Amino acid sequence: MVMSKGNVKKPKLMFVDDEVENLDSFTMHMEDDFDVVTCSDPLKALDVFKADENISLVLIDQVMPNMTGLELATEIKKLKRYTTMIMVTGNATKELAIESIRKKVFWEFLEKPVDFSSNFMKQLMYTGVQEHYLQKASHGFRKGAVQLLANLIDDKDGHTHRHSYRVQSWSMKIAKKFELTPHELMIIEEGALLHDIGKISIPDDILKKPGRLSQLERKIIMSHPARGGDLLESVEELKDLAPMARFHHERPDGTGYPLGLKGEEIPLPSSIVALADFYEALSSKRPYKDPWPMHAIVEEILRVSGKQFPEDVVHAFMQVILEEGHLAPSELEEIKKSVSEAA
Ligand SMILES: [Fe+2]
Ligand SMILES: [Fe+2]
Repeated sequence: MVMSKGNVKKPKLMFVDDEVENLDSFTMHMEDDFDVVTCSDPLKALDVFKADENISLVLIDQVMPNMTGLELATEIKKLKRYTTMIMVTGNATKELAIESIRKKVFWEFLEKPVDFSSNFMKQLMYTGVQEHYLQKASHGFRKGAVQLLANLIDDKDGHTHRHSYRVQSWSMKIAKKFELTPHELMIIEEGALLHDIGKISIPDDILKKPGRLSQLERKIIMSHPARGGDLLESVEELKDLAPMARFHHERPDGTGYPLGLKGEEIPLPSSIVALADFYEALSSKRPYKDPWPMHAIVEEILRVSGKQFPEDVVHAFMQVILEEGHLAPSELEEIKKSVSEAA
């Protein structure tokens, strides 16, 4: 239920705490100024959050049954990264503080007992809501800028229209199989979209040449990862995305480019994007090829596992393939058997 004072909609706050007295006290002191939602069960809170577009600020207790406050905050951040969150805890340990900072999920930390009747608390709620709107606006601008660049890349590349978006989508599916923070996932989401940004500075007559490429032309096309890395590194705000542009054609066996990095030298996000990029190329129609059938793609990826892509990234990809029902587990086992026999 959305309550309002006159025509002005009140900002919406959510408080999650298994101690019901805290929830009641919070509601009593805040409901004049804010629309308050409370929840004593973190799992239920997550469902409520998913269903409600209007929650600006979430206060979360740390020690609760089913899920810790930090876990809940991490899930919320994955759903909507610009939600302002405040930890309210009676167990402010050093470990919790370190973990929270590392995960970049909380905006503020409060130690229990908290006096919800104080002016400080009300002011903090208003500042938190303001922070939410600021973050939402800057998130919107950033998302728009990144999408604009991706559209330019896909337009430039012509026949691989929406390649960048498909690589992004598969990168995220694979990335979610790893224990990554919401911030790391965000970096992969944006970096995957811009992995081919270096193609913007490759001349059209080379990039779109239908026939065989000369050695020099190949060299120019193969300069796109380094060009992309340089482009992204030249903008302070986009620096974090550079490794996915620079290293998405590297291979763990050292035969990739531009640097011939080996194994662990290749950052995980770059390897994830590399596999998503490869999958996208094989599964799409191009002027010179039809889409490969799924069993052939999986066979090829298994064949080069450990050489072209790290084994754990291939494993994560196979999990997605099974979960989405592209192959039955028995079919995957068959393919694995034939690949290992052929090796
Ligand atoms: Fe590329
Ligand atoms: Fe690509």
